[in-house]
Amino acid sequence: MDRLVIKGNRKLSGEVVISGAKNAAVAVIPAAIMAQDVCVIDNLPYIEDVKCLYTTLNKMGAESVYEDKHTLKIDSSNVSETKVTFDEVRKMRASYYLLGALLGRFKKAQVAMPGGCNFGTRPIDLHLKGFRALGANVEICGDVVCVSAEKLHGAGIYMDTVSVGATINIMLAATMAEGVTTIENAAKEPHIVDVANFLNMMGAKIKGAGTDVIKIIGVDRLHGAEYTIIPDQIEAGTYMIAAAITGGKVKVSNIIPKHMDSLSAKLMEIGVGIEEGDDYIIVDAENKNFCATSIRTMAYPGFPTDLQPQMTTLLSVCDGTSMVTENVWEKRYQYIDELKRLGAKITVEGRVAIIEGVKELSGASVEATDLRAGAAMIIAALKARGETVIGEVKYIDRGYEEVEKKFSSLGADIKRINVEPEV
Ligand code: UD1
Repeated sequence: MDRLVIKGNRKLSGEVVISGAKNAAVAVIPAAIMAQDVCVIDNLPYIEDVKCLYTTLNKMGAESVYEDKHTLKIDSSNVSETKVTFDEVRKMRASYYLLGALLGRFKKAQVAMPGGCNFGTRPIDLHLKGFRALGANVEICGDVVCVSAEKLHGAGIYMDTVSVGATINIMLAATMAEGVTTIENAAKEPHIVDVANFLNMMGAKIKGAGTDVIKIIGVDRLHGAEYTIIPDQIEAGTYMIAAAITGGKVKVSNIIPKHMDSLSAKLMEIGVGIEEGDDYIIVDAENKNFCATSIRTMAYPGFPTDLQPQMTTLLSVCDGTSMVTENVWEKRYQYIDELKRLGAKITVEGRVAIIEGVKELSGASVEATDLRAGAAMIIAALKARGETVIGEVKYIDRGYEEVEKKFSSLGADIKRINVEPEV
């Protein structure tokens, strides 16, 4: 069992190169099995969720090989298995994309439902409603979802709630349905556009991704394609916030600055210097005091829920009282008890966290309660005086590539230890 040991109270400085987007990768890889052909996907983050999908695809009969750490070549011509067991995907929430991809290509799938981060009920009713609208029969047997159809047909689908996963999953299946599908009230996250772009390069006909109405004209067959995944907006935001909390100056590069607008605006509002280039942002927090603010998490282009724990951590050391409202996930404040161990003063009332800024944090032993909570613990530890030990690093490894190496290169004192007794 790995732990991260961080000695805090050091300014970060230098440049960090951001990896490909986890949330795009976990949808683009399943999309690749829809082509009876070879796809090459580049700029993949080298993280546990991607490695898990790679193993699963090969068990399904695909021949996928890592050309290098960030490039997967996937030959899906011989995929025959449409059942995915719990053991294969238990650690990974986004296994649900295999449903849409397999339903599209084979008109059937049985996929065990999802693992990943535990922060409240994570329903997939909208995904299933969409599949049904396309003509699929849906059954749930224990933890396995079974979908099948004689044939899929296009449909008009209105999403009751804006859902990233449901938008992508319905888009995957509808790509190989007969006729036209329209998804209204679709999510607009950058990785939805990324998946649509990849599908279009494989021969799909998708328009409107990135707006709230997506139109898909079904096709019979998809061919192979080469594709480069977009940069990870959440990893970039994590490093931006980390630079700010340490009072450092960091160039966060290989990003799309536009994707960072909601975070950049909030950082500037509290007093952090932000300079944007074509594919980088320089965060300058040297010799500055930061003031409190309010944040409400929302679907893109609103402030992302996946940066809420990291930003709440930064606000815990800003002057004054801040308020954070979590509108997406009901239980996304589990990490706050951990943050309090380091000295943060936060009260949670339902979806609202009230944060009374403190002058400093001090090191303690804490757990990563989920992926982004783990990132928040690192950020808090970088600020704290003394040593912090973070447990449950497996959550962090799901979504952050070489986290200790990247932070070390910015001057952090961070190391990984393995606390398992030697056998
Ligand atoms: C994705 C991201 C996750 C992020 C979330 C919100 C991936 C792999 N994960 O998760 O990191 O936190 O978007 O930005 O991309 N909902 C329903 N019914 C459904 C589906 C969702 O009610 O069938 C609700 C959820 O309870 C939640 C909201 O819709 O309150 C948004 O969820 P959704 O956008 O679907 O999140 P994910 O795609 O699971």
